Amino acid sequence: MKVGKKEKGVILAGGSGSRLDNLSRITNKHLLPVGTKPMLQWNVEKLVDAGVKDILIITGKDHLGSIVSYFGSGSNFKCKFTYKVQDEAGGIAQALLLVDGFVKKNEFFWVILGDNISNYPLPSLDCFPFVLMTKVVSDPERFGVLVDDDVHGDYIEEKPEDPESKKAVCGIYGYTYTKNFKGYLGSLEKSDRGEVEVTDLNNLILRNEKWITYELDDFEWSDAGTLESYKKVNQWDWVWK
Ligand code: DAU
Repeated sequence: MKVGKKEKGVILAGGSGSRLDNLSRITNKHLLPVGTKPMLQWNVEKLVDAGVKDILIITGKDHLGSIVSYFGSGSNFKCKFTYKVQDEAGGIAQALLLVDGFVKKNEFFWVILGDNISNYPLPSLDCFPFVLMTKVVSDPERFGVLVDDDVHGDYIEEKPEDPESKKAVCGIYGYTYTKNFKGYLGSLEKSDRGEVEVTDLNNLILRNEKWITYELDDFEWSDAGTLESYKKVNQWDWVWK
């Protein structure tokens, strides 16, 4: 299987944004400014800087118009955009069903959660079809947490009350659109919080596929989806340069 060609990227910009309170009533949270540009633009540029020119943006019905009006065809961003609508905020892995038709069989693609901000450049890959990124954080209970388990194999716990590790799973994933991957996506059911969870997808990958983890510990990474984390990313120097 040919992997490592960074041909396609997917950015998720749906969800309800409810944890940003009044701010996400003004507009889609991914259009809110982080430093000098809209949140979403940081991830568009991350993909383009890594050589990814073909980018799918998935968002909800409410603010698609504003997103298209800012990003357009992609010609101003040195890439080509495709837009798709997720009708309801049914979870990250539900949104990923929409990649069908955009990515081709056995094609490698990056998925970035639109509210994740980092100064980590995407790596070049040569042989791993699946990629996870982690960062040690002080508040792991807010994230999916990677637990290293030599006996049963590594696994991820989604927002554990009592985390067994401090390694947050970042919202930057490398996937390959294999038959198995499609099967995993199609087999997932909604969790107790009513979402199809990316962590359930990633646990199937960890159990059955060849994967690699990159640790972002030398870089800054955070989500920007709560008032506290939104404030934090806006205080980093590099977002103002
Ligand atoms: O930030 C990293 C974390 O993101 C991971 O550690 C967790 O494992 C993962 O579940 C996710 O956690 P959150 O609960 O913080 O995800 P949130 O609902 O905030 O959504 C993250 C992004 O995905 C956000 O930019 C909106 C988009 N999204 C979310 C949902 C639920 C969609 O596009 N569609 C959706 O249905």
